[in-house]
Amino acid sequence: MIKVGIIGAGRIGKVHAESISKYVSNAVVEAIADPLMSEKTRKWAKELGIQNIFTNHEDILNNKDIQAVLVCSSTDTHSQMSIEAAKAGKHVFCEKPIDHDLERIKKVLDVVEESGVKFQVGFNRRFDHNFKAVKKAVVDGTIGEPHIIKITSRDPLAPPAEYVKVSGGMFLDMTIHDFDMVRYLSGSEVVEVYAMGNVLVDEAIGEAGDIDTAIITMKLENGALAVIDNSREAAYGYDQRAEVFGSKGSVSVSNDKSSTMVMSLKDGVHTEKPLYFFLERYMQSFSDEIKEFIEAIVNDTPVPVSGIDGLKPVLIGLAAKRSLIEGRPVKLSEMK
Ligand SMILES: NC(=O)c1ccc[n+]([C@@H]2O[C@H](COP(=O)([O-])OP(=O)(O)OC[C@H]3O[C@@H](n4cnc5c(N)ncnc54)[C@H](O)[C@@H]3O)[C@@H](O)[C@H]2O)c1
Repeated sequence: MIKVGIIGAGRIGKVHAESISKYVSNAVVEAIADPLMSEKTRKWAKELGIQNIFTNHEDILNNKDIQAVLVCSSTDTHSQMSIEAAKAGKHVFCEKPIDHDLERIKKVLDVVEESGVKFQVGFNRRFDHNFKAVKKAVVDGTIGEPHIIKITSRDPLAPPAEYVKVSGGMFLDMTIHDFDMVRYLSGSEVVEVYAMGNVLVDEAIGEAGDIDTAIITMKLENGALAVIDNSREAAYGYDQRAEVFGSKGSVSVSNDKSSTMVMSLKDGVHTEKPLYFFLERYMQSFSDEIKEFIEAIVNDTPVPVSGIDGLKPVLIGLAAKRSLIEGRPVKLSEMK
């Protein structure tokens, strides 16, 4: 049984704790730490059977029984927490993004290498049943050589401007998953990015220095082209679709719904809306990514999403930011 410590008891820390207790039979949450440990969270943790509830993450790192740490705290703490955990000899699962700064990410990867621990990054969409099916059709050659990758990724509700200010901007906070998806589905690397963006949803997002609507086009190393369209707010809900078009055909996936019901009436034909947001849409992927992290520890095999997989989407995101500011395509080689 792998004993796990969770740093950060916010939304995603709770998702992982619950997934482990329900679905990961060879792991147990031994401790959870958060400086803002409310009574409500304490009660939730106790009900889940978590024995140790701390306000300081060091109590997790000092616990010799804990073999693996999940870094689920706010983004600005990820790189430091990962470094401390790796130095303490713990295997690390780090939520996305590792950091917004490439030098700090490289430092994390160096420490991980020196410590010899496992390090997995939380790009959960790679474990989603839909996107895995697309990936399979690409890898087994069914659709031939990939030529075009299209990702639609729109949130159901824009975040508050206060969140936007500390988020690193839409490309590093939201599109980062889509940049990872482009790499994952194509099996290739992005070499050039051209981003256009605007503020069409909420003026406060613009005042906070960000955009809420974007189209990003990319050239890949294997010659394929990719396009991502993003909105912070789609009126009909969380819109998560992908298509890979190749030399022998195309493969696409649509949104998951709570049922496949089709209601045909006088005024039209109605179906369910997409599942509301990431907590509804991606629950299966959140538990599968942790299952595979634990399997990699138990079997001493490579983790399915590496530190380099964590670094590359940040690099693409920074190139997209530069492209938006400078109004031109940016090569990734410029980003060194
Ligand atoms: N993979 C995904 O789809 C996904 C989804 C949501 C969030 N995330 C990532 O997870 C991270 C957390 O997001 P969230 O939505 O859970 O945020 P949240 O604000 O709900 O939770 C963050 C928690 O971290 C705690 N924290 C801050 N500093 C800490 C410290 N020093 N030690 C321990 N805990 C500390 C905060 O008190 C808070 O409770 C973010 O980096 C976010 O990008 C990833």
